[in-house]
Amino acid sequence: MQLNKKVDQFKGLVILPFLESGNAFLSKLEFPSAQVSNALFSGKKDSQFLLEKPDEGQVFLFLGLGKEPDYKSIQNSFRRITAKQENLFQEDVLLVISKDFNEQVLEAAVSGLLLGTYRLGHFKTAEKAPKDWDKVKMGVSSSLSEAEKIVEKAEKIAAAQIQTFKMVDLPPNTATPQYLADWAKEAGKSHGMTVKIYDRKKAEKEQLHAFLAVAQGSQREPQFIILEYRPKNAQKHVGLVGKGVTFDTGGLNIKTQGMVHMKCDMGGAATVLGAMQLIADLDIPVQVTAIVPCVENAIDKRAYLPSDVIQSHSGKTIEIIDTDAEGRLILADALSYMIKNYQPEHIVDFATLTGSAVGTFGYECAALFSKNEVLIQKLMESGDAVGERLWPLPMWDIYQKEMDSEIADIKNFHGKPFAGAITAAKFLECFTGGHASWAHVDIAGTAFGDSEFAKTKHGTAFGVHLLLKFMENL
Ligand code: BES
Ligand code: ZN
Ligand code: ZN
Repeated sequence: MQLNKKVDQFKGLVILPFLESGNAFLSKLEFPSAQVSNALFSGKKDSQFLLEKPDEGQVFLFLGLGKEPDYKSIQNSFRRITAKQENLFQEDVLLVISKDFNEQVLEAAVSGLLLGTYRLGHFKTAEKAPKDWDKVKMGVSSSLSEAEKIVEKAEKIAAAQIQTFKMVDLPPNTATPQYLADWAKEAGKSHGMTVKIYDRKKAEKEQLHAFLAVAQGSQREPQFIILEYRPKNAQKHVGLVGKGVTFDTGGLNIKTQGMVHMKCDMGGAATVLGAMQLIADLDIPVQVTAIVPCVENAIDKRAYLPSDVIQSHSGKTIEIIDTDAEGRLILADALSYMIKNYQPEHIVDFATLTGSAVGTFGYECAALFSKNEVLIQKLMESGDAVGERLWPLPMWDIYQKEMDSEIADIKNFHGKPFAGAITAAKFLECFTGGHASWAHVDIAGTAFGDSEFAKTKHGTAFGVHLLLKFMENL
C-alpha cells in the first residue's frame, strides 16, 4: 500500500472511519464542502454512509466504528468492506486515517481491509472469475509519524494470517503432512530459517515412537517439522509447538460426531507456522524454534489399537485408552524432543486438543494451562491486545492421578466425561520434564468456526497475532 496520498486530487473510493459522536461528520475539516447531517450518519458501530461526487470521480465511504472500538472490532469493520462490498473496489482506493486515530487503529484498518480479500473458494471451477485484487491500488493517507512502518507491519500480519486461514481451510487431501512440510521448506527458504523434516524412517531413528504410533494407520507419510529462526542479537529463546493432525477420524475409536470438521485438527500447526512466517518477516529479535508434528489419524489394519501400550521419545510408556486422544501423543514427543534438543527458556504449544475446551469456553476464548503465573499474564495480555482471548484453567496436581495407568507409566485418557481439557494438559505436563516456563493453549474452539465472513466454518488464524505480541513484549 502506498502512503500519504492527498485526498484532494484523488479519484476513486475514499474510506473514512469515524468514531460515534454528536457531530461525527461535521467535525471533519477534510470535507468542508460535503454536508451530512448527524441524523444520517453519526459514526454508530457498523453504520455506513456512501456519498458520490461524480464530477470529481470520487466515492466516499463513511464507516462508523462506534464509541470505543477494540482492535478486533476495528479490524472486522474494515474486513467486512472488502469481504462484502468488493464492487466498491475498482481501481483506486484511499484509506484516510485522521489525526483522531492512533497507530493501532491504522494497523487494524489496513490488516482488516487485506484480510477481507481472502476467499474460501479454492477449488471453484470459475463460473465467475474471482475478483482480481492485484488490480486494485490501495493507498493510505495518514499524518501519523510512523505510518509507513505501521502499514508495512499490518500487511505482514494480514499475509501471515491469510496463510494460516488457507492451511486450515484446504481439505485434508490437499493439506497433508507433506503439504505442511513443503510449506515450511518454502517459508524457511524465503525468510532465512533452517528447516528439518523427519519422515517415518527418520522419525524412527529419532525414536519419536508416540508420534509414529498415531501415524501408523495412515497411508500418508508423517512429517515431523522443525523450524529454527536465529536472528542476530537475540537475548531470548522461545519454543513453539503446534498440533498438526491433518485429519482426525478418531482412529479405531472412530468419531461418531463432527468428523466432517476434523480438517481443522492441524489448527495448532497452522498457527505456529503462520506465526513463524510473521516473526521472521518482521525480524523480531527473539530466537524461536518451532516443532510441528504432522500426521493423519486414520483407520487401517495397521492402525494403533485401544489398549496398545506404546513407547514415547521421553522413554515413558503410554497405555492407549482411546485412539481419538491422539493429539496429546504427538505433542508429547514434540515437547520432549524440544526440551532435550533445544532447551528454550519458554515453550508454548497450540493444539485443537479437546472437545472439553469447547464445552468450557465456546468459540471466543481458548483454554490456557501453565504453572507459571508470569507466563500466564504475558500470554493473556498479548491476546487481549488483539482480540484473541485466553483464560486459565487449573493445573493442580490432584488431577494427575486421573492419568495413572495400571500397565504403563501413564494412560492417554482417563475415560471419564469430565475435566477433559485439564486432564489432557496434565498428560502433556508429564513430557515437559518440569520445564519452568511452559504453557499449553487448547484452541479446539477458536481455531475454526462460523463467522459473518463465510457460509461454512473456516480458519481464524487464532494465535498468530497473539504470538507476535508475545514475542514483542518478552
Ligand atoms: N481433535 C479432537 C479435539 C477437537 C474437538 C478439535 C472439537 C476441534 C473441535 C481431539 O483429538 C479429540 O478427539 N479429543 C477427544 C479426546 C477424548 C477421546 C479423550 C475429545 O475431546 O472428545
Ligand atoms: Zn482425536
Ligand atoms: Zn485431534
